[in-house]
Amino acid sequence: KKDIYVLGIETSCDETAAAIIKNGTEIISNVVSSQIESHKRFGGVVPEIASRHHVEQVTIVLEQALKDASMTPENLDAIAVTKGPGLVGALLIGVNAAKALAFAHKIPLVGVHHIAGHIYANRLVKEMQFPLLSLVVSGGHTELVYMREHAHFQVIGETRDDAAGEAYDKVARTLSLPYPGGPHIDRLAHEGKESIDFPRAWLEEGSYDFSFSGLKSSVINTLHNAKQKGETIPPEDVAASFQASVIDVLVSKTVRAAKEYKVKQVLLAGGVAANRGLRAELVKAFSEMNGIELVIPPLHLCTDNAAMIAAAGTVLFEKGKRGDYAMNAYPGLDI
Ligand code: KG4
Ligand code: ZN
Repeated sequence: KKDIYVLGIETSCDETAAAIIKNGTEIISNVVSSQIESHKRFGGVVPEIASRHHVEQVTIVLEQALKDASMTPENLDAIAVTKGPGLVGALLIGVNAAKALAFAHKIPLVGVHHIAGHIYANRLVKEMQFPLLSLVVSGGHTELVYMREHAHFQVIGETRDDAAGEAYDKVARTLSLPYPGGPHIDRLAHEGKESIDFPRAWLEEGSYDFSFSGLKSSVINTLHNAKQKGETIPPEDVAASFQASVIDVLVSKTVRAAKEYKVKQVLLAGGVAANRGLRAELVKAFSEMNGIELVIPPLHLCTDNAAMIAAAGTVLFEKGKRGDYAMNAYPGLDI
């Protein structure tokens, strides 16, 4: 069987990325240009700045991915690009770069859902075993996704308000930590004590949905009340207590869903998957459960990258899915 080489392009938020993947599982090249430094002083991603950076970087990143792989576009079987969800202006840069390259070299085009990409980052680590469950936790998403086969996604639970990463970033901001706040809270949490009993939103019996805005408000109120009384709570204790609440809910619901859906694998996906506390608690929970394999990608494959987009794109390409030159960017795309 002939080897399949897919170029992935990702520009949905604040990383401009391109990667080449062989047969959906092997990384040949993987280039990520991050804009975090440009957005830091604004405390979050500024869409207009993101678009401008993507325009400047996309060609450079694409050429680097080909160069690192010692390839030319002629070697590619398909070009996979994130078509949504994300910032519309940012997505459009990647979609148009993909269309231009596909048109110039007559290469098939495949549109990829960003979250499908995050899930398929796991396939770069371990072959998927179906049925499986993926816990997707990123800056924009918190979802439990059930898959009975390749490229088939069933959302069994999702956030009703803030995403997990969003809650991390907002709490970090309240603690005057730099953007993105997730890694800072993670670091502080390991130095602090779980001295504050923040709420856990379990929602109604049996629900796999999540809610983090109540927790976020509780953290903000606790800090505000302490300040008014002239008290100071160690920020590391706030971080540890907040993180404990997030992880408790994420791990409990994932374990319950994994049992109910009788899955063979549980995959962790998205930027918050880089969280050391979450990784450790999931490993602990699933080490006690026979027959369910837990897969956790390395940190650089958890945050936004194009290798994951090419990995998901390969499966879609093999299933005959094709994009055309009318492909648009879809900021609120469903998986
Ligand atoms: O997947 P991602 O790179 O971008 C989106 O698609 O949203 O996720 C970014 C999110 C940010 O909210 C960031 O604070 C969070 O992932 N994050 C973390 C950690 N590293 C990144 N959250 C908690 N702990 C971490 N170690
Ligand atoms: Zn992402």
